[in-house]
Amino acid sequence: MRKWLPSSFYNPITIAGAALASLSFGLILFLTVLEAFSSDNKPYAGILTFIILPGFLILGLLIIAYGIIRERRRELQGKFREKLPVIDLNDDKHKRAFFIFSIGTIILIAFTAFGSFKAYEYTESDAFCGTICHKVMEPEYTAYKYSSHSRVGCVKCHIGPGAGWFVKSKISGSYQVYSVLFNKFPRPIEAPIENLRPAKETCEQCHWPRVFYGKKEITNTYYLSDENNTRMILSMLVKIGGGNQEAGVTSGIHWHMNISNQITYLAIDRERQVIPWVKAKSMITGKETIYRSTSVPVTKGELKNGEYRTMDCIDCHNRATHKYNPPATSVNQVMAAGWIDASLPYIKSISVKVLDRGYTTKEIALDSIKAEVEDFYQGDYPEIYSSKKDKIEKAISELQDIYSRNYFPYMNVSWRKFPDNIGHMYSPGCFRCHDGKHVSSDGKVISNDCNTCHTILSQQIGDQKPEMSMLGVDYIHPVNIGKSWKSMLCSDCHTRQKNDYIP
Ligand code: HEC
Ligand code: HEC
Ligand code: HEC
Ligand code: HEC
Ligand code: HEC
Ligand code: HEC
Repeated sequence: MRKWLPSSFYNPITIAGAALASLSFGLILFLTVLEAFSSDNKPYAGILTFIILPGFLILGLLIIAYGIIRERRRELQGKFREKLPVIDLNDDKHKRAFFIFSIGTIILIAFTAFGSFKAYEYTESDAFCGTICHKVMEPEYTAYKYSSHSRVGCVKCHIGPGAGWFVKSKISGSYQVYSVLFNKFPRPIEAPIENLRPAKETCEQCHWPRVFYGKKEITNTYYLSDENNTRMILSMLVKIGGGNQEAGVTSGIHWHMNISNQITYLAIDRERQVIPWVKAKSMITGKETIYRSTSVPVTKGELKNGEYRTMDCIDCHNRATHKYNPPATSVNQVMAAGWIDASLPYIKSISVKVLDRGYTTKEIALDSIKAEVEDFYQGDYPEIYSSKKDKIEKAISELQDIYSRNYFPYMNVSWRKFPDNIGHMYSPGCFRCHDGKHVSSDGKVISNDCNTCHTILSQQIGDQKPEMSMLGVDYIHPVNIGKSWKSMLCSDCHTRQKNDYIP
């Protein structure tokens, strides 16, 4: 028999390697073709097509090489393999073995193709993104499930359409798989994400800035930390705005920030929370204005080497879907809904306190929350403890749920690690620039007037008569802190541990 490959190729090890390599290669082709014909792109499927299967392909090639080298060595020692085994189909034993082998192979290939197709489908699902890396992405996945984007796939924001980003994500995807396997990932996974795709190409697939419009009314209910949990109700119109030539008058947050201005800024920390330098360029007149902070000094080196960023959706909506609420926010909401009974004395105060203790594990947290709330009522209000036992137990279970949705000690995740840039109460947010201390050379200040971004329509504290006006009422801080809320950032007080700022 004439061999058209070197004789050292013909040995069982090499042939097994070749089989493995061809099978993997075949599957890669199969999945690639499948991908080319599917309408929706499935970025994470690439983990299978571009990481796992090539792994087998390379293994097959290595086995081939090993077989050849081994065979060479044997040949040098003079041990030649005469022939490959001959299959004689007239021999019944051979015939049986041959058929079992061929049918087995066909079934195996069919199953492998089917299996890899299933795996391929699975990789595009959000359960895959959120759970395959289990604990690692548990915080992001949990927050996502409770957000308004819970039906928007992870890949829609994190990868988006188009081939370039698909390949880019493949490369960083391989690194992610490696870092999870070898326990090399940071806790928490850090934001801002390096090289996150520009929001224009992701968010704007669904939210088209030119059609943003109008003002949004929001009404928030707050409870103070006194014995009666004094209630405050605040309504305001948030000037979302936007617009285009056809829509007539244009105004509001999106119009100023996103449509008519281009804003570039320099942040001196990784989290982009400290911003000493801002440039606004009007997209209508082309005029540029540079604002510098009078409270945060910036060195020449920072100005020269710093990372300048053009503001886009993510600079405000950084917690578009992975939002971890501060305890006061969650407790206010749950109390307003009636799930925690506001007639329990000091329930607001104790709730915020027990949630934000910085526990080391979830188990300890859930146990401590229960023990501490029970102890408090048992000790200070024994009558209420026995007459409203069910209300107290209900409050405890609500608090445990709030904890589970918003705190992830295993990954060091909580609202403190991931400040939300929308608003200004629990992190500087808009006040990173709108603090009244960013001034241009001709004396213009980035506005910090309370009516720039929203109009307070009404405010009611306790049983007082509500203040209200469509033109806006002056804000009254619910507890008397003099004028300090005008000169300090709200977050200077509201991000402290509870006990530090309650008078
Ligand atoms: C609505 C768009 C959107 C969706 C859908 C989305 N994310 Fe995100 N994700 C973001 C943004 C925005 C950030 C913050 C980026 C930044 O600050 O640089 C982020 C950040 C993250 C981070 C970094 C840590 C953090 O909390 O900032 C992880 C991990 C993450 N997302 C995983 C996921 C997973 C898993 C899913 C699906 C279950 C998902 N994301 C769905 C927009 C989205
Ligand atoms: C695949 C489509 C899609 C993409 C991509 C998307 N969103 Fe959304 N977004 C939605 C849907 C659907 C809602 C829910 C609308 C509703 O509740 O009325 C929503 C709601 C919102 C809301 C209002 C609700 C809230 O939580 O405040 C904001 C803000 C928002 N998206 C911002 C973003 C940002 C920022 C990005 C990019 C990081 C983004 N979206 C990407 C579909 C999308
Ligand atoms: C200057 C900060 C800022 C920037 C930049 C920004 N937004 Fe917003 N956006 C806001 C604020 C503030 C609100 C109102 C608060 C809220 O509803 O969460 C809002 C509301 C929204 C809403 C909800 C509208 C509604 O009716 O509830 C969507 C959707 C949205 N933004 C999408 C985007 C997208 C997409 C981009 C990027 C093209 C973007 N935003 C850029 C600050 C910003
Ligand atoms: C990186 C700095 C920066 C951040 C952060 C920022 N802004 Fe601004 N904003 C500016 C600058 C600069 C201007 C002024 C543009 C000019 O020169 O007219 C402006 C103007 C505005 C205006 C128009 C003001 C007017 O007088 O008409 C609104 C409304 C606004 N911002 C809302 C917001 C909201 C809401 C947030 C937070 C979600 C926010 N901005 C966060 C830099 C910022
Ligand atoms: C640069 C824009 C901007 C300015 C200036 C501004 N705010 Fe706000 N404020 C916001 C945004 C955005 C939110 C979040 C709205 C939402 O939750 O959708 C907010 C939320 C609030 C809330 C509700 C807080 C919460 O989380 O429950 C209060 C109260 C408030 N603002 C008061 C004020 C007062 C008082 C001033 C003047 C010192 C002021 N704001 C100035 C943009 C602004
Ligand atoms: C000097 C510290 C300080 C500053 C600055 C400050 N606050 Fe407060 N704030 C307090 C204290 C103390 C309370 C009472 C907390 C309680 O009873 O739980 C409070 C309570 C509140 C509450 C209701 C209770 C809650 O947390 O649910 C709101 C809303 C509020 N502040 C808004 C603001 C806003 C908006 C700003 C910025 C414009 C601001 N505060 C600035 C100290 C401060």
